[in-house]
Amino acid sequence: MKYTKVKNHLPNWLKRLFNIAISRRITIEDVSIESLPSYLYYSNLMLNYQVKDLVNTDAKAFKQRILEFLVLTDYKMEDFDDPAMQRDLSIKFHWGHNHDFGDFSLNGRLGNRHIKILTAFKDKLKAFPKSLEGKKFLDIGCWTGGTSLILCALGAEVLAIDEVNKYIESLKYLKYAFDIKKLTPKKLSLYECTLPEFQNSFDFVLFAGVLYHVTDLIIALRILFNCLKDGGKILLETATVLSNNAILVYKGPTETTRGSKKDLNRGGWNWFVPSPVALEKMMEDVGFVDIKTRILRGRCFTIGLRKNHVDMMRSGLSTTIR
Ligand SMILES: C[S@@+](CC[C@H](N)C(=O)[O-])C[C@H]1O[C@@H](n2cnc3c(N)ncnc32)[C@H](O)[C@@H]1O
Repeated sequence: MKYTKVKNHLPNWLKRLFNIAISRRITIEDVSIESLPSYLYYSNLMLNYQVKDLVNTDAKAFKQRILEFLVLTDYKMEDFDDPAMQRDLSIKFHWGHNHDFGDFSLNGRLGNRHIKILTAFKDKLKAFPKSLEGKKFLDIGCWTGGTSLILCALGAEVLAIDEVNKYIESLKYLKYAFDIKKLTPKKLSLYECTLPEFQNSFDFVLFAGVLYHVTDLIIALRILFNCLKDGGKILLETATVLSNNAILVYKGPTETTRGSKKDLNRGGWNWFVPSPVALEKMMEDVGFVDIKTRILRGRCFTIGLRKNHVDMMRSGLSTTIR
């Protein structure tokens, strides 16, 4: 009663924050991820991938090949019929994460997100150990591969997938150029991770910045649950809706953000954005336990454990799935 009275006098934006803050399961934190201890450590790991570290090519040929990617605009290589209906960033190549190659640097559309995401999961959620030696990671929606490169430098064996061919081609080139034996880039949709080699196989699944791009969230989460070994963890990062109710906000391909059609650089291209409570409920419903969320800079960082493989409610699923 007391809470309702107070809440009624608040402006809407503060009501929304208040709703989140009173939730027992969710904490909002205004944190500078760049000042957390792992940030500098992971930033330095990116320095393992500079022209001084090239193995299978030289600095000149390397730069030339990277520049070719940067001017690549090709919808046919993605098997699209009508480019007008497709996401700009799938038609035209855009570099994903910042990378200082030594002789030259690339500013990615996502800035230092690769470093920030892994720092937040490590320092705020204690999601994985300092060394990933002997651990298998599945990196979903890797773009040009910033997170995969850091995970490999930490010792992990990484299978990096993306539905966009041109980004996987660029990551395959980095693997070749730097001879990164523990990295396997593959052009695949996460919906194809039902293949036998994916089942019960990974210690960790990194699912960052992708949930809102996919159409069937329940099937996506169940596929990733099945990819984990018993005892494996999902590290999920997503845009969120600051509501205390379990809701999914529909966006659709007409809602684009910054950029222009002419420059093929618009953002957006999202389907559904979940509230933190909806996200946790969906994760529970596909089998995850020990789910923990932090909201950092307005986005959800959520981890969940596959303790053991359990059945899920089968009614209404869009496909047959284990
Ligand atoms: C916003 S970016 C996130 C990049 C990176 N994971 C990060 O967090 O910085 C989303 C990426 O997911 C990819 N993607 C979208 N839907 C996918 C799907 N169904 N399967 C695999 N990758 C997908 C996109 O092509 C894009 O590279």
